Amino acid sequence: MMRIKDKVAIITGGTNGIGKATVELFIKEGAQVVVADLDDNGADLAKSLSTNGSECLFIRTDVTKETDVRNLVEETVNKFGKLDIMFANAGIGESAMAHEMTMSDWQRVIEVNLSSVFLTNKIAIEAMLESGGGSIINNSSVLGLVGQPSVTANAAAKGGVSNLTRTLGVNYAKEGIRVNSICPGYTLTPLITSKPKEFIDGLIANHPIGRLAEPEEIANVVLFLASDDSSYIAGSNILVDGGYTAQ
Ligand SMILES: NC(=O)c1ccc[n+]([C@@H]2O[C@H](COP(=O)([O-])OP(=O)(O)OC[C@H]3O[C@@H](n4cnc5c(N)ncnc54)[C@H](O)[C@@H]3O)[C@@H](O)[C@H]2O)c1
Repeated sequence: MMRIKDKVAIITGGTNGIGKATVELFIKEGAQVVVADLDDNGADLAKSLSTNGSECLFIRTDVTKETDVRNLVEETVNKFGKLDIMFANAGIGESAMAHEMTMSDWQRVIEVNLSSVFLTNKIAIEAMLESGGGSIINNSSVLGLVGQPSVTANAAAKGGVSNLTRTLGVNYAKEGIRVNSICPGYTLTPLITSKPKEFIDGLIANHPIGRLAEPEEIANVVLFLASDDSSYIAGSNILVDGGYTAQ
């Protein structure tokens, strides 16, 4: 059974990693999908995934820019008639200690990993209030819940994403808009696979399950939250972390 047949979804950061795995899964599950990314390879991805039943469209978007995000949602609604699902997934990595950072290092991570989530959620909510509901999924992280060596602004950003999710979940549940986050452990995407082997081995040692996640294992949970299978889940942060935060 297709679990999100004829739903209209936007996936930010959909050209690579967790976003790309989610785009592929959503198309298989019958949705119309808009890939919103700065990386123009999303155009080829969208073309290769479009089928007779499901259309995949690329809209070049910088999620930190209000005009871009407004245009993204407007074009989506113009083309497909509504917006049912927003996966606010775009983000950047960080490895920095506070005493070595500048204010502009801090502000860049907060802008891309936190303020963009506010912006995409706000504009999606405006559209969903018009159409009568929807599901928003934010990509937080285990870093939204626990501290971690050599991560500073991203822990603050993800903590913000997790609690923004709770408060938007509370504020819009009655309107039929469910807002939830996923909190992945470390996942084998370009963000991580580009790092040295010793670094990756160190990460694996911190996951009781004994390996890092495949992007598809994260996408499965995004699908669950996007679909009616999760109809009673609102304002939640769902761990998908191989036991990382349970230790
Ligand atoms: N990989 C992990 O271990 C891990 C763990 C927990 C959470 N996450 C979160 O998952 C999300 C996706 O990460 P990933 O690992 O798939 O990374 P990735 O680098 O593979 O993909 C991120 C995508 O976001 C896009 N992007 C970056 N800045 C953008 C902007 N301003 N506007 C539009 N698009 C932009 C990139 O072009 C890229 O396609 C991020 O929010 C990240 O913090 C990742």
